[in-house]
Parts: sequence; C-alpha cells; structure tokens
Amino acid sequence: MAKNAEDRYQSAWGIKADLEICTHQLEEISQIDSFQLGLQDVRDQFQIPQKLYGRDKEVAMLLAAFHRVASSQNYAQKTSEQEQTNNSILNKVEMMLVSGYAGIGKSALVQEIYKPITQKRGYFISGKFDQFQRNIPYSAIASALQKLVQQLLGESDDQVQQWRSRLLTALGSNGQIIIDVIPEVELIIGKQPPVPEVGATEAQNRFNRIFQSFVRVFCSESHPLVIYLKLLII
Ligand SMILES: Nc1ncnc2c1ncn2[C@@H]1O[C@H](COP(=O)(O)OP(=O)(O)OP(=O)(O)O)[C@@H](O)[C@H]1O
Ligand SMILES: [Mg+2]
Repeated sequence: MAKNAEDRYQSAWGIKADLEICTHQLEEISQIDSFQLGLQDVRDQFQIPQKLYGRDKEVAMLLAAFHRVASSQNYAQKTSEQEQTNNSILNKVEMMLVSGYAGIGKSALVQEIYKPITQKRGYFISGKFDQFQRNIPYSAIASALQKLVQQLLGESDDQVQQWRSRLLTALGSNGQIIIDVIPEVELIIGKQPPVPEVGATEAQNRFNRIFQSFVRVFCSESHPLVIYLKLLII
C-alpha cells in the first residue's frame, strides 16, 4: 500500500515468498521476526519510477502557502495588526505561479501536493485554459468549479443539503447566473427563477459579484479550496 507503485510488491510471486517465510517462522519459533521484505520480488518489466526528484524545496513552498491560508490563525500572527484590518479577506487568499518550458515537470510538481491537501479536507480542483476555448470567458475556472460541484454531488445527502442551503443563502435569487455557466449547480439548488435583464456593464458587475459569492461558499477553514489553473502562453 506504499504511495508509489514501485515501492509496492511487483509480483504475486514476491508476496508468496514472503508469506512462506512467515508461515515457516510461525511453525518453527511460533512468532514472526522482522526480516527484509521483497527479496524474491522481481519485476519482469522495466518501469520508470513515479517518484519526483529534486523538488523538495518547491513542494515545501507550495504546501507552506496552503497551510498559511488554511490555518488563518498562524497567518494572522505573522501579519501586523494594521495589515490585518486592511486585508482581512486577502489574508486568506494566496496565488502561487509555477512556470517553465514544456515537460520540465510543472504538472508533476503540482500533483505532489494533491494528497497532503485532500488529507487536510481541502478541495483541490483544476482547469485548463484551452487554446480552443479562448472565446469562452472564465472557461478554466468554470470547468474547475464544475468538477468541484460534481464532487459535492457525490457526498452524503446531508452534506448536499448543507451545500444547497449555503449556496441559496449566498446566491439569493441570482442562482440562474451561476447555472448558466455551471449547469450542474441546478442539481444542488434546484430550478431557479430567471434574473432580470440589465445593461451590459451592470450584467458584468452582477456576474462578478455573484460569482465571487459562489466561490466563497467553498472556501472555509474546514474546507480550504485550491484551484489549479493551467495556462499556455505562446
Ligand atoms: N523532478 C522530476 N522527477 C521525476 N520525474 C519528473 C520530474 N519532473 C518531471 N518529471 C516527469 O517528466 C514528465 C513531464 O513532466 P510534466 O508533465 O509535469 O511537465 P509539464 O511542465 O507539466 O509539461 P507541460 O508544459 O507540457 O504541461 C512526466 O512524466 C514527469 O513525471
Ligand atoms: Mg503540464
């Protein structure tokens, strides 16, 4: 059950050999002494290891940012009181940029922090700014949140009900604005009334405001939210 596949048993033969040693010791001395596992465990194919090499520092930096945001208390201690009052909301948001040429290991690096984050009950979602979806505003963010909503729909009925009431409180009568971008939301909050037609600027402002309230529903100390956005700059 080791994290990396290559650290696990590679063959049934290898497990069988070790179990036989156990049986043998039990029969001979009625206990199992510790012995080196997997000595007979040889894989018949060459496999490239999944382990990430030489990125401990970068992984630690990403995780440190997550912990600063997720445990707001520690963070508050580090910033001066003046800053705290000015940035009471910003305090709980951080953005980290990972850049580099194709294949250098950006995705592999970010993938490393998935496990520690979800272990802390954080939500980790990702979206990609596709070069073919350039004309769709917010496409990467919307598709990331779409995956989050799908994840929520898989939670218990009780939890879904809680999300429903939190979302309805946050969105009020503007739920349809979010459903237009992320149709799955309707599965949680049900059919919503149409929103009044307004001018372009007002519609944009309204969208920004409602979208922020929407995202904020998923950001809490018990469930910190990490959004991983991939973008390609040509
Ligand atoms: N430090 C590393 N240790 C081990 N393997 C690595 C490391 N960095 C990258 N790799 C491997 O190299 C390959 C390419 O890495 P990855 O897909 O993360 O690159 P990328 O920067 O995300 O590329 P792209 O810009 O195309 O998205 C993967 O198979 C990855 O596992
Ligand atoms: Mg990548």
